[in-house]
Parts: sequence; structure tokens; C-alpha cells
Amino acid sequence: PDRTPTSPGACDARAADTSDPQQLAERIPAGFVIGTATAAAQIEGCVHAGRRTLSVWDRFSEQPGRILDASTTAVTADHFHRHAEDVRLMSGLGVDAYRFSLGWTRLEPGGRGPLDPDGAAFYDRLLDELLAAGISPFATVSHWDLPEEYAHGWRDRDTALRLGEFAGLVGERFGDRIDGWITINEPATVTLNGYALGLHAPGESLLFDALPTAHHQLLGHGLAVQALRAAGVRGQIGITNAHTPVLPAGDGEQDAVMALLFDVIHNRVFADPVLTGRYPEVPDELATLFGALAEVPAEDLAVICQPLDFYGLNYYMPSVVAAGSGTGDSPDGVSAAMAELPFRLEALPTHETTGFGWPIAPEYLGTVLAQLRDRYGDALPPVLITENGASFDDVVQADGTIADIRRIDYLARHLDSALSAVAPGGEAEGVDLRGFFVWSLLDNWEWAAGFTQRFGLVHVDFADGTRTEKESYRYLAEVLRRRDRR
Ligand code: NOJ
Repeated sequence: PDRTPTSPGACDARAADTSDPQQLAERIPAGFVIGTATAAAQIEGCVHAGRRTLSVWDRFSEQPGRILDASTTAVTADHFHRHAEDVRLMSGLGVDAYRFSLGWTRLEPGGRGPLDPDGAAFYDRLLDELLAAGISPFATVSHWDLPEEYAHGWRDRDTALRLGEFAGLVGERFGDRIDGWITINEPATVTLNGYALGLHAPGESLLFDALPTAHHQLLGHGLAVQALRAAGVRGQIGITNAHTPVLPAGDGEQDAVMALLFDVIHNRVFADPVLTGRYPEVPDELATLFGALAEVPAEDLAVICQPLDFYGLNYYMPSVVAAGSGTGDSPDGVSAAMAELPFRLEALPTHETTGFGWPIAPEYLGTVLAQLRDRYGDALPPVLITENGASFDDVVQADGTIADIRRIDYLARHLDSALSAVAPGGEAEGVDLRGFFVWSLLDNWEWAAGFTQRFGLVHVDFADGTRTEKESYRYLAEVLRRRDRR
């Protein structure tokens, strides 16, 4: 597909309006949380500090051919050393909240407690700085950086128990200072990219045999909720799932069946048990694919379905699904395993794309919110958009500025779409949307894409760690200043 970025000049009238900071500021309801988000493996670096051990991503990034630009987790954005500067940047931005992740192997070297004192001291410092700056901390307990000692990773049921234990320990240590807890981040991406398709750590290509990793992550989520509650944390507790609205490529019966299959794999397997205590039912012709989930113990489902204070939604794009094999237009790259699936993902030619080639489709954010409401009804807790953002090929101009106007347009239109959808008369009216976290504060290490995709409001020079505010940072700061002046 042609992934050449197109000119931002062709924005529609609505986008032009939302690019006016005053108009967007006026639309943000009182009490609505605006934040930025990051994850430990993508920004911290310093993977050999003290007693810290390696995660599956540290190890994976060292393997030849795994990361697009052969970069590793070793330094990334050097946040481990620059956390104070990064909190100052957040202060300047004026965000209400910051979502970060607790590095599992920094806190639990070797994947077992007790917490490492030096690792814990790092997060103590970060929390002190955030609280002093009046920024509300939201912590993700598990954002993909599994300790490498867990022999088969999420294939093992035991890993779910380990997540529960880790959540209990961090809950006891940090529970007095954290406002929001996310047990686990995008388990769908871990199962699909990490265990089914071989694109992410640990690089396994099990196709449908990867389904137990979905169940074990969800069980880990349930155990983590229980452990956090037992630790008496004062913050709210939720999960973060990636949702993508699924569109059949054509009108045919086979495309419809494959779109349904992809919707189940990507969205419903990870949301239904959490919110309803059941795995989704599938048509008979697909049932054998999901045999692993049909056999799980009923007690597990009771653990997975814990009352939540919020549901975290990551939204990036819709997916177009066609019947038939082939590697198609997959968002995170291609692998040999992908060609063995009975479907493929296709481009959405009507839409402009980000640097990753992902379609820019803010209107589908409303679709996702409405789908959550329609599927889960009263079982859906208040929703937080825990990630939304875009990578672009940002250019540092001769005068040092970074005019990322496409990111401004992207963020303004997505925030506007979410707010419009849940407003009276909107497509997702009735959804209790409480906040929006921009991915990401900083340019960072984008997993298998290494440093090739920049998502930050702040530019990072990966050669020396220098931070430079982009125009999108200035735009969001202006929106938040005007909001606070009301
Ligand atoms: C979702 C993941 O949670 C995050 O780590 C990643 O960088 C963004 N998507 C962008 O791909």
C-alpha cells in the first residue's frame, strides 16, 4: 500500500474548528481528566541498573532481526535519569494526570518479591515529583515487560498468579499515592503479536494455540484486582483493552464471517469475560478454533469478572477484514504465521494514514464507545480513554521547532469525536466517559518498530536524550490553559 503521508491541508471544516484551542477547551467538561501516557520499557532505559533483571522485551530486542532498526531497550528515552525533567514537561503542559507503568523486573528482579528497595525508590521519587506538581498518578502494573524467568511466559497459568502477587506488593508500597491502577495493558496485543503471530516478545507463532495466553492474562487481571483491593489501595482500579471496530472488506458472506472472527479475537475475548464473566459465543463453524476457552474452569471466570471502577479503552484505528490468506496490510508488520490465517487485514483507502500507515479515523472512536455501551450495558463501568495518539515523521526545522500540525489535527479530532459521541444526542450517549490520555508524552521506543515511529508531544533526540517541545505540546498546553481559566 501507498503509505506516503498526505498533506494536512485537506482537513474538513470540523477539524479546522477543533484546532482552535479555545473551541476545544470550551468543550471539555468540568472534572474530565486529561493526561499523557507512557510505559516503562519504552522510556526508562537503564536496564542493568542495580539488581534489575531482564524482561522478555529486553531479551527479544537483543535478538537479530526482531526490531526494525535493531535498537534495544537499553537506553530508549533515558527517563530513568531524566524523570524530574519529564515531570517538569508535564507541569508545563498542564495535564491533570500521568499514566506510566511499573517496571516489573526493576521492582521484582527475577520475577519474585520482595520488592527491590532501589527499584521501589525510583518510583517513590517519581511519585513525589508528580504529587508535588499536582499531577495525578495512574500506574499500569503490567505493560508487556514480563520477567524472562517465567519459562513459557503467559502460556503458563502460573504467570497469572505471579501478576497477582506483584500487584499486591506494589499496591502495598505505592497504594497511598496512586489515583488510578491499570492491572494489565492490551492483553489482546500480547496474545496476537507476541504469541500468535511472532511479531512481539516472546516471538511465538502459535496462531489459535495462543488462546491460553489470553485466558492467563485475564486471570492475572482478576487476581491483580483482588490483590490491589486486599492491599487497601486508595485509587480506582481498571484494565486497559485495545478496541478496534471491525469492518468487513466486502459485502460477501465470507468477509462477514471473518470480520466477526476478528472482532471476537481482538475485542470480545478480552472484554466479555472481564465485564460479563463469560467468553463470547461464536457460530458453530468457528467454535473449534476457540476450544481452549470453552474448557476453562468456571471459578476462573468468577475471578476474571471483578467489579471495576473504570474501563480503560485504547483506541487507534478501525480494522478492515477480508476472507482469504495473505499478509495484507497489518498494522504492526507482517510475519510468516500471519499468512496461515483464514483472513487478512486490508487498508482503509478513504482515510489518510499516520506514519505507521494506520488510518486516521476519529469517527470510529464514537463507534467503539457506542459498541461498548450496546454490548455491555450496565456492566460497563465509567470509561477512561487510556491511550490515543499518532506517530508521524516529525522534522526538526533549522530553527529547532517541530511543526507537527498533523498530530495537532489528529488529537483535536479524536478528543472532539469522543466528547461529541458521549454528549446528549451523540452516537455513544449514555457512556460515562471520564478522561483521555494522549499517547505519548515523549517520543519513545515503539516495540518492534524501535525508534522509527515517533508518538510524542515532546521530541526526543535518541542520540543524547535532549527533549524539545513540539507544536502539538504547545497546542495542548494552550487548550488546557484556556480550560483552566474558565
Ligand atoms: C499500545 C501500547 O499500549 C503502547 O505501548 C504502544 O506504544 C501504542 N499502542 C502505540 O503503538
